[in-house]
Amino acid sequence: MKALVLAGGSGTRLRPITHTSAKQLVPVANKPVLFYGLEAIAQAGIQELGLVVGDTHAEIEAAVGDGSAFGLQVTYLRQQAPLGLAHGVLIARDYLGDDDFVMYLGDNFVVGGINDLVHRFARDRPAAQILLTRVGDPTQFGVAELDAEGRVIGLEEKPERPKSDLALVGVYLFSPAVHAAVAELKPSWRGELEITDAIQWLIESGQRVESSVITGYWKDTGNVTDMLEVNRLVLESVEPRIEGRVDEASELIGRVAIEPGAVVERSRVVGPAIIGGGARIQDSYVGPYTSIGASCAVVGSEIEYSIVLPRASIAGVGRIESSLIGHDVEVTPAPNTPKAHRLVLGDHSKVQISS
Ligand code: G1P
Repeated sequence: MKALVLAGGSGTRLRPITHTSAKQLVPVANKPVLFYGLEAIAQAGIQELGLVVGDTHAEIEAAVGDGSAFGLQVTYLRQQAPLGLAHGVLIARDYLGDDDFVMYLGDNFVVGGINDLVHRFARDRPAAQILLTRVGDPTQFGVAELDAEGRVIGLEEKPERPKSDLALVGVYLFSPAVHAAVAELKPSWRGELEITDAIQWLIESGQRVESSVITGYWKDTGNVTDMLEVNRLVLESVEPRIEGRVDEASELIGRVAIEPGAVVERSRVVGPAIIGGGARIQDSYVGPYTSIGASCAVVGSEIEYSIVLPRASIAGVGRIESSLIGHDVEVTPAPNTPKAHRLVLGDHSKVQISS
């Protein structure tokens, strides 16, 4: 069995956080979301990985390399334009040959890995096996309709009037039967070759499509609340470790990971939390469900339930909560505080100010 990971699309929804980088590299608990997928694939015993990349290929290649760090042999497959998930399968046709494969969308996050799914697929050998999860707004996803026995009877991509709240998760298992389906596809209303249509084609041609419903699923929907939530989920099981330096005047409580080169001085860190490599925490409080990125500085401040991306600095600003702070951001108090806010905000920023 091979794996096909799609990391061709660029992130427009999480701007300004991702306008400079691939959405698959958005960090969850200080690790790119894509890496969790690669680890899950390797853990399921798969070694050969086709990685479909687009405009952001340089960043993805710099992060993943030849895949050996994950125990994978990566072959990069260049997609000239984001023409759809099924287009990814189309350009990988020669690479995949007649092998079964798991297709994994690089911006999806599935808690608990894919071992069981891969084993079930290998045992039952359906034409395709899909994962479903209940979501609040199914119009943002592919949506499945099931019959009374739980069999998939129809799939629709981003329907205006969804027939259920069961969304397609971006992890699919396919037998080579999918290639005949993909070859028949025409572009959808959004100009893409939809994998949803390919699976629908398999169903209509009488082939077996199995499904299972999972919980513990996340994708970047452009929603900061969702990002904070997945960060929380992953931090729940962070491995406590101190690889940096924590002085005697500091206190670490609960699951706290201090990465190499980080320094914590005269501060209190209440886990679950992670402090990235080379970060500096001084005279501060870092509360639960917080990821502080590499080389950040948090000085004389309080922060919790937040994500701070690499090289940001937060100094002397009281309490920050439920926030997503981008790369190289500087947060400082206003001098002599006149009753006015002075802001330099990137495109599409969202700011809440107490007035
Ligand atoms: C794609 C699929 C959709 C699926 C989703 C999961 O949507 O087309 O069926 O539910 O991935 O991430 P897209 O990310 O292209 O909007």
